Amino acid sequence: MDDLKRQLDQELGQARSLEDLERIRVAYLGKKGSITTLSRTTDFGALGPEERKDFGRRFNELKQAAEQALAETKARLEQAGGGRLSGAVDLTLPGAGRRLGSLHPISLVQMELEQIFQGMSFVVGSGFHVEREHYNFDALNIPPDHPAREMQDTFWLTNGMLLRTHTSANQVRMLEKHGAPLRAIFPGRCFRYENVDASHENTFYQVEGLMVDKGVTISHLIAVMKSLLDQVFHQDVKVRLRPGYFPFVEPGFELDCQCLICHGAGCKTCKHSGWIELLPCGMVHPVVLRHGGVDPEQYSGFAFGLGLTRLAMMKYGIPEIRLMNSGDVRFLEQFPAAV
Ligand code: DAH
Repeated sequence: MDDLKRQLDQELGQARSLEDLERIRVAYLGKKGSITTLSRTTDFGALGPEERKDFGRRFNELKQAAEQALAETKARLEQAGGGRLSGAVDLTLPGAGRRLGSLHPISLVQMELEQIFQGMSFVVGSGFHVEREHYNFDALNIPPDHPAREMQDTFWLTNGMLLRTHTSANQVRMLEKHGAPLRAIFPGRCFRYENVDASHENTFYQVEGLMVDKGVTISHLIAVMKSLLDQVFHQDVKVRLRPGYFPFVEPGFELDCQCLICHGAGCKTCKHSGWIELLPCGMVHPVVLRHGGVDPEQYSGFAFGLGLTRLAMMKYGIPEIRLMNSGDVRFLEQFPAAV
């Protein structure tokens, strides 16, 4: 028995992998292993009762010692990494891999829109999430008692500032800063005091656009909007204007595009109207131009506010708005890492 234990220790000392270890375990403690079969190969008839007892005790000790030695060797090999001893790095193993993150669907659509507008000589600006009441409402022709304020309830700070309800809040800031002529878009995050459901969020994204110059007309507005939609949807999109009311534009419109699913025939997506409401827009109100320090006698312009979150949902077929801010990796990793 002592010989067997010595022999086992020596073999374990030479083990270099978990496969080696398993082979040794089978050779000693497997069904036909040399320790297991010891009791079978011993002639108990030749032993006295005391000797038999002694054999039993030593046999159990040997088995326990062997099991312990195997466990210790296993721990040593595993610690050395992947069943191989330290120093013996297997350069042929594949790398652990480095999974790159992906872009958020809203970022993807935003970057695409920025490229499209830069192609039409628009600059890209940004505003502030925390905004002054003046820029979010008053300067946009929405005085304190105006009913339009009710549709845009928001989060107010104790210092009187608010979380902006729309990217339009940046219109007058851009006019003040850059003056006319101006071609700019300003995408960004907006906030409203909303009950959250599958299509409403308290935090969402818009892209605002502003073009102000001498002689800008509704024709320019339609041309730029149509060009934008053709490029976003990679097809010849049909558009129409309906009257819409927004205090900061006159006239104001809702721009619809013909349903991209049924091409006007009527389906579930367009609620059988053949058209999808997409883009509120209009000609910049003289009051707004004046607030921005631009003379409405000399300049005119158009503005539009595109729901970026909604556009991303349409483009990628995302049925549930709450996924957008969920931070759920299973959702996010379905999008590409680049535009
Ligand atoms: N700011 C408006 C909203 O969030 C959308 C909008 C309407 C923006 C008309 C515009 C515009 O620039 O001309 O509901």
